[in-house]
Amino acid sequence: MGALPDLSVDIGGLRIKNPVLAASGTFGYGDELTCFYDPSLLGAIIVKGLSLRPMPGNPPPRIVETPCGLLNAIGLANIGIEAFVEEKLPSLATIRTPVITNIYGHTVEEYAEMAERIEKVDGIAAIEINISCPNVEEGGMAFGTDPDTAAMVTDEVVRNTTKPVIVKLTPNVTDITIIARAVESAGAQAISVTNTLLGMAVDVATRRPKLANVIGGLSGPAIKPIALYLVHKVVEAVKIPVIGLGGIMDYEDALEFLIVGARAIQVGTANLINPNTAMEIITGLTDFCIRENISNINQIIGVLETNGEDHEKKGDRKN
Ligand SMILES: Cc1cc2nc3c(=O)[nH]c(=O)nc-3n(C[C@H](O)[C@H](O)[C@H](O)COP(=O)(O)O)c2cc1C
Repeated sequence: MGALPDLSVDIGGLRIKNPVLAASGTFGYGDELTCFYDPSLLGAIIVKGLSLRPMPGNPPPRIVETPCGLLNAIGLANIGIEAFVEEKLPSLATIRTPVITNIYGHTVEEYAEMAERIEKVDGIAAIEINISCPNVEEGGMAFGTDPDTAAMVTDEVVRNTTKPVIVKLTPNVTDITIIARAVESAGAQAISVTNTLLGMAVDVATRRPKLANVIGGLSGPAIKPIALYLVHKVVEAVKIPVIGLGGIMDYEDALEFLIVGARAIQVGTANLINPNTAMEIITGLTDFCIRENISNINQIIGVLETNGEDHEKKGDRKN
């Protein structure tokens, strides 16, 4: 048997052994799926979104299943940065893969304070900024829908850390490329695309929304074509690496994102359905590379063939 393909990639200065990451909010603080596999095998782990102070999140019900998807309105419930550093980070440090903290603030200053706090801590490889959560009133998505504010948050975090900064964008905008360019100019080293799409569901018997928060964020296979399209758009708009996510369930989904140009991918909702998904994707990518005689995964990144046919650029109608 020949040598195994090299799956390692570089995301904004962070070298990871394979392009498969656990997405924030679906992998707890890195300790939830350890009974299924060794998390050291993942490219990186992105922990649940953290804030300066602990947050209870929204009242229940905060999760609803929809056809091919999941609506959540967790509201960024988390233990806060201090408890994370004291209680969770020591055991995470034993995992031999980079740990990325996903952070959010209620104000621009809070994002800066979070970055400053994380800078003092060993064992955190990079910061993913969430400016895209649809489920909190202040902060979250409000920062991700305006290019100036998105740039301001990015700039504050970048100025307060030496760690790579990844900005996670919301799909709930008219033109995602404007926000992508704004955060790139503000110093982001990578961009994650995408967070959840706004949605809702109604209980016809009670005439009430199924989520106590009324609206939530849609994730899972239902959003994959939209996420893929947004990754395609962002890859064309910026030079920094793009991390793709949204509805990835198996290695072929992952390959679609890599082919359109994502440097790495994240597994989110799939973790809640089949906890072994990320491992199956790593195996699937390895086998695919062997079958296709690909010695390095980078050979498949951004190889989308369109023959110059981009109907959006041409202004063609799609129906
Ligand atoms: C239950 C749940 C909690 C989430 N919590 C966070 C979070 O704390 N921070 C964040 O940036 N994204 C969060 N997300 C969004 C996911 O990381 C991901 O961007 C989104 O679900 C789309 O990917 P998927 O379809 O693979 O799940 C959460 C998603 C779910 C389903």
